[in-house]
Amino acid sequence: MPVYESAMKLWNDRKVISKSAHWKASGHWKRIIPTVRKRWVQMKGRNAPERIVQTMVEYGSGGGAVASALAPFFTRIYGIDISELSLEEATKQLKAETFFVPVLIDIENPESALRIGPQDVFISTAVFQHLPSRDYARRVLLLGRRLVRDDGLALIQFRTGYSSAPKGNYKRRYAKWNCQSHKEFDEDARMAGWWVAEMSPEHPTRSGYTWAFMRAL
Ligand SMILES: C[S@@+](CC[C@H](N)C(=O)[O-])C[C@H]1O[C@@H](n2cnc3c(N)ncnc32)[C@H](O)[C@@H]1O
Repeated sequence: MPVYESAMKLWNDRKVISKSAHWKASGHWKRIIPTVRKRWVQMKGRNAPERIVQTMVEYGSGGGAVASALAPFFTRIYGIDISELSLEEATKQLKAETFFVPVLIDIENPESALRIGPQDVFISTAVFQHLPSRDYARRVLLLGRRLVRDDGLALIQFRTGYSSAPKGNYKRRYAKWNCQSHKEFDEDARMAGWWVAEMSPEHPTRSGYTWAFMRAL
């Protein structure tokens, strides 16, 4: 099955995503909320303390855990996703917490999210490793740059330590389908118009989860 089709099937399968897209009932919220909040506060504090931010756009918002973690810092949050079910779930969970705007995209055309216009911050966590290819990740970096103002910021978590040439069965390998080294991510981010102000250390023998804090060039 072509990768776009496999990804659409997986991320719209309620049984899989109620856990893998970090829905509240899965228990992932408890772990994600303090981790993401701490990352945001520390990395922004070190790299853009002067920047006042109000709106954020999250790429691959899943069940809404990250939006919930960052709700205290923003007046409006846009959640972009290819999964209608996850967007519905996030909308339900975030109703009482923040002004959340669901943005459904077609996997073949993530650029359709440009309809929301430029915001202050672009965030994506636990998504880049699931993207169809490095080329697709480059498109998302470019999209992110176009979705923020000229003094925009970004926080992206990607995965290192595995081959950047995905192959095999997406359903079995989606957790590390698209991985990049620090150098590859930095090159791609620069080409898309970002300056990587800080990257967390690479742990190739462990999960390989890496966080990048970026400023628009
Ligand atoms: C593991 S969940 C992460 C959810 C959330 N970012 C978090 O950290 O809790 C991955 C999310 O990415 C979405 N996703 C997968 N492929 C995508 C793509 N090509 N474009 C946009 N979203 C995608 C999935 O539907 C899912 O909601």
